[in-house]
Amino acid sequence: MFATRFERFGPPEVLSAGEVPEPHAGPGQVRIRVRTAGVSPVDLAIRAGKSRSPIALPHIPGVDAAGVVDEAGPGVSVGDEVFGAVDVTRLGGATAEFAVLAFWAPKPPSMPWEQAGAAGSGIETATRALDLLDVREGMTLLVDGASGGVGSLVVGLALARGARVIGTAGDLEFVESLGATPVPYGPGLSSRVPGRVDAALDVAGKGSLPELVALTGTPSSVVTLADFSGPSHGVRVSVGALGGEPDGRHGLAAAAALFEEGRFRVPVEEVFTDAAAAHAAAERGPRRGKLVVTVSG
Ligand SMILES: NC(=O)c1ccc[n+]([C@@H]2O[C@H](COP(=O)([O-])OP(=O)(O)OC[C@H]3O[C@@H](n4cnc5c(N)ncnc54)[C@H](OP(=O)(O)O)[C@@H]3O)[C@@H](O)[C@H]2O)c1
Repeated sequence: MFATRFERFGPPEVLSAGEVPEPHAGPGQVRIRVRTAGVSPVDLAIRAGKSRSPIALPHIPGVDAAGVVDEAGPGVSVGDEVFGAVDVTRLGGATAEFAVLAFWAPKPPSMPWEQAGAAGSGIETATRALDLLDVREGMTLLVDGASGGVGSLVVGLALARGARVIGTAGDLEFVESLGATPVPYGPGLSSRVPGRVDAALDVAGKGSLPELVALTGTPSSVVTLADFSGPSHGVRVSVGALGGEPDGRHGLAAAAALFEEGRFRVPVEEVFTDAAAAHAAAERGPRRGKLVVTVSG
């Protein structure tokens, strides 16, 4: 099959198209013919040789993908349109003709392929964090890092739960467009946040945990996805399947239903046909939504 892959770590230019062996779905998985794949910070770090996990070469980037099932798995048949993410231990495989998904949901017919391909792991992560914080109607949630790939999905899904959301960002206009009350990020956050905060989620990992604990009044109302010093502040670090926690995979079907009701969307900034160009754009940042690669038409 064809794939965009790299054979040595380095800048976006190490990515090139070539032939690689086809993957096949194992138990509990599906294989899709990929239509679109999302670009995430982890893809950039792996390509640059900065991953903490060992990466075998050649490596095919991309953890999120959407496409048409061609090897069926639980609950789906050949020909179904789905979106989801690869197995967390594989850390790649999406920018290829065929990819194996570890979790997925049916793609609503009205959901554009570019939104679907960017959504899988981010929705899982966002749902897991919102579940851990038990975010419900009437609560006020503070999201530190609200404009990013994960943060923007957290904002959308928390609003759909009926929460009021305050989001920190460099780009306040973008966070406001997501439906959150925007606040500039950085030191002194507690003095800028308006009113009471019931729960806080750190998606940025920039050292805000003491301020988030002060704002909520208790470390048990704070979760971080990105700051491994969490336990020293009494704050839970959520790492998902890698940490053996309950996962947020059920969030994909829920998000698909919300999409069909017009109550949720995946913010996408730009769609590329060339994965190297997408990686280069992602490195330039900051973003106003996900970057997506069209793999096949
Ligand atoms: N634990 C898990 O399961 C899990 C899963 C997925 C991702 N993650 C982690 O979550 C983090 C975010 O991922 P992502 O994909 O959303 O990354 P991203 O798209 O690069 O977003 C990063 C966000 O952080 C914001 N930011 C930058 N400096 C900040 C500061 N000083 N204070 C507060 N916010 C700041 C950025 O805002 P501007 O662009 O406006 O500067 C942006 O909104 C990464 O560390 C990633 O490794 C964890």
